[in-house]
Amino acid sequence: MSDATAAKMPPARGHSHPHLAQVLFTPRQIAVRVARLAHEITRSHAAAGPSGLTLVAVANGALVFAADLLRHLPHPTRFDLVRVSTYHDATAPAALPTVHQFPRLDLHNGHVLLVDDILDTGHTLHHLQGIFRERYRPASLKTCVLLDKPARRRIAVNADFYGFQIPDHFVVGYGLDYAEHYRNLPCIGVLDPALVP
Ligand code: IMP
Ligand code: MG
Repeated sequence: MSDATAAKMPPARGHSHPHLAQVLFTPRQIAVRVARLAHEITRSHAAAGPSGLTLVAVANGALVFAADLLRHLPHPTRFDLVRVSTYHDATAPAALPTVHQFPRLDLHNGHVLLVDDILDTGHTLHHLQGIFRERYRPASLKTCVLLDKPARRRIAVNADFYGFQIPDHFVVGYGLDYAEHYRNLPCIGVLDPALVP
């Protein structure tokens, strides 16, 4: 292929979007990291026994990540979701996340892995951990996030497993949204600051 032909071709799918200032992780980089993360989780939950693990995704943001992670985890793994809103169509977090829907599966005494898209101020994960411990008294409760933004932490909480640490940028794609858009981007990128009021 000549350079002239290459220049006319659009960027590879998933590697950019006109509203992104920068692509942080390509679909390939995400896939490799998610597979490794699944191995870490599997090793750490080897003692969960025949009842296995229940992965609970924090909807909507974690659904894309959880769906990929799930397919690398061994049988038996159950799946459910908890619906929470922390950001109300804005980029500033509300102090207390609201739970709109609890898992339908019985999580009492089980091994639970809470999966979220990103650990930012820490309010969501901290709040959910407290609620889950009190409500289900799980045999174990661990947390997994794809992205960790330590610079923004307001509450001292860390995830047991995380995919990538990122600097303090507002990111979208691979499930993460801005005002409910961009969840469908296969890459993760920094939203053009000009688009954020
Ligand atoms: P936290 O409660 O501040 O830790 O925020 C966690 C939630 O905020 C995540 O589940 C995301 O839905 C949302 N969030 C935080 N940072 C970003 C971001 O950079 N892009 C998109 N959503 C974000
Ligand atoms: Mg979320």
